Amino acid sequence: MSLEVSHKITIEKTKNSKISQVDFNNLPFGQVYTDHMLVCDYENGQWSSPKIVPYQNISLDPSAKIFHYGQSIFEGMKAYKDEHDAIWLFRPIDNQKRFNISAKRLAMPELPEAYFIEGLEALLLLEKDWIPTTKDSSLYIRPFMFASGNGFHASPSDKYTFIIACSPSGPYFGGKLKVLIEQQYSRSANGGVGFAKAGGNYAGQFYPTNLAIQKGYQQVIWTDDTTHENIEEAGAMNIFIRINDTLVTAPTSDRILDGITRKSIVELAKDQGISVEVRTISVHEVIEASENGSLKEMFGAGTAAVISPIAGFGYKDKDFSLPELEDTYAAALKKQITDIQYNRSDDKFGWRHAVK
Ligand code: PLP
Ligand code: COI
Repeated sequence: MSLEVSHKITIEKTKNSKISQVDFNNLPFGQVYTDHMLVCDYENGQWSSPKIVPYQNISLDPSAKIFHYGQSIFEGMKAYKDEHDAIWLFRPIDNQKRFNISAKRLAMPELPEAYFIEGLEALLLLEKDWIPTTKDSSLYIRPFMFASGNGFHASPSDKYTFIIACSPSGPYFGGKLKVLIEQQYSRSANGGVGFAKAGGNYAGQFYPTNLAIQKGYQQVIWTDDTTHENIEEAGAMNIFIRINDTLVTAPTSDRILDGITRKSIVELAKDQGISVEVRTISVHEVIEASENGSLKEMFGAGTAAVISPIAGFGYKDKDFSLPELEDTYAAALKKQITDIQYNRSDDKFGWRHAVK
């Protein structure tokens, strides 16, 4: 840690750790929170020094702008512990950069890299016993920022709060997914905020996703808002489609989150000679491939979802099944990326970041 920032982080430790009440063998996703959180306030055009404090409620005035105008952004990251109890992050600078891309689009202040990264490192060192070592578990990290200034005027807030909270978590999804290709609703539009991790992007998805859940699907696959003919991404992950031996994923745009897992999978796949195409892929092409047998796999990729295989999809009241293959790209790529994340293999791309 550089002196410049570390000397400014103050730590107030909890007197009542909750860790003994946690069943680390049976962790849900994102429902148990660690003992501490990092908090940093922005006021008068400046960020205050980050503080690590006991995990606690937040008190806000009812006129706080977050409640009315939705200025709220977040990131999703994970900390992994290896067999020697060393702590690792995966490409954290990319999360920090994306956080500031989101902040700019939502007219929120950017956060200095050192506050994000070194603040997170200090928090993780304090919470190291909370990082699970049970299979497929990790410490899910949620950095977020919201408008904490007051007033009903529809304009950007003058105060913001940045928090990092952590949650020891098991898998996001249990088992293979059935997804619905969306034909009516849109997640994002050209010129909008789809590329940002803005809270409102998720709020807008809940209603159409609930309709899909009522029909027996777990996730919606979003299509472009103009024609609904091209596959974009899912609610919490980017999408890969394997046609014969080629892996296809949509290019990122204004409307699609530039997923860190997605770009890592593209590099990993190319590195082992898998043909990868980053291009527009139409629903029509996927259906045709399903009908002629060339559609081999579909899977989602994201920090929470890791790599989540899709067993089938619905489109216009018709269901399509994916074949059950023995050796899948999804399983091989999941093993490779998690081996890097958990420090079980070499890291030739330099993606692992030690926390010490
Ligand atoms: N797309 C959306 C809408 C997401 O919420 C996420 C999750 O962060 C992703 C894609 C995957 O991004 P990443 O791999 O950076 O977690
Ligand atoms: C993540 O993968 O970390 C995300 O932010 C997705 C979230 C909606 C669970």
